[in-house]
Amino acid sequence: MESPFKADVLKGKVALLTGGGSGIGFEISTEFGKHGASIAIMGRRKNVVDEAVSALKSAGIPAVGFEGDVRRQEDAERVVEATVKHFGKLDILVNAAAGNFLVSAEDLSPNGFKTVMDIDSVGTFTMCHEALKYLKKGGPGRNSSTGGFILNISATLHYTASWYQIHVSAAKAAVDALTRNLALEWGTDYDIRVNGIAPGPIGETTGLSKLMPQEINNTATDHLPLYNVGEKWDIAMAAVYLASNAGKYINGTTMIIDGGLWLSKPRQLPKEAVKQVSRTVEKRSRAAPAGVPTSKL
Ligand code: HXC
Repeated sequence: MESPFKADVLKGKVALLTGGGSGIGFEISTEFGKHGASIAIMGRRKNVVDEAVSALKSAGIPAVGFEGDVRRQEDAERVVEATVKHFGKLDILVNAAAGNFLVSAEDLSPNGFKTVMDIDSVGTFTMCHEALKYLKKGGPGRNSSTGGFILNISATLHYTASWYQIHVSAAKAAVDALTRNLALEWGTDYDIRVNGIAPGPIGETTGLSKLMPQEINNTATDHLPLYNVGEKWDIAMAAVYLASNAGKYINGTTMIIDGGLWLSKPRQLPKEAVKQVSRTVEKRSRAAPAGVPTSKL
């Protein structure tokens, strides 16, 4: 789908994306590139990173890839340094690397819980920590008037509670806390904006195939009137908006992009039945207000 934004809204920016070689991360890499940014991708799987970089390059986007795991501080440091060495500076960090699997709380081992916390939450903090000196206003290669931008990919799972997602819910709640606290501290001290995006179910992603596996004949969504699956493009367009100058006053927010799904509840009554029932109840309550004995009327 065509972007509604001008092709130069991220012109001259350098963006580093963890998990930028696949899924939502790759879509953001591509759209950032199409809007003028140079792209560095960090990922654990060399073949995925290499393929993503060649795809970006063949679309005319300056791109480089680095193998690395956000759980290893030395990888985070090495990749941030290599990005700056390659492109001369760093303007944007996108934390899109994440881990997930469906498991009941009872069957989840502490190490399984920790693994997801380490990737999603600690990994996000580690990347921010290593990138800080380059994202600061006046940081190496940057001009002295503005700081950089951090985007954390979150979720909506923890807004209520989600079946078989205790580890990811905890991890993304921590990510949202990082977004707000870094927005406060680094926004104030260094002019760095820190925001998040909380996607709903997005088609053609590992997340969706893990949360709604083909093996499960899932009819549980039938009653959800707002339910539909979003596109990676929906997330990437929001990312372009937040990263561009149009988002200059947006700091510390996590934008929910799920078509309103997290608000969905089973409908108690059909709409037509509400009209009938509601009027009947109204008449009855006027005739006999609750708590007033009918003998007193
Ligand atoms: C129960 C599991 C498990 C499963 C792993 N574990 N898979 N437990 N059910 N299906 C446990 C293991 O038993 C082990 O604990 C611990 O987790 C670590 O597992 P490893 O396989 O050693 O970890 P690792 O190789 O590092 O792989 C990490 C991973 C994996 C998270 C388990 O799935 C991964 O690499 N994922 C990255 C890609 C990904 O998931 N992308 C989707 C993101 S979607 P023990 O105790 O046995 O040692 C997303 C969407 C959010 O984030 C919500 C959107 C709506």
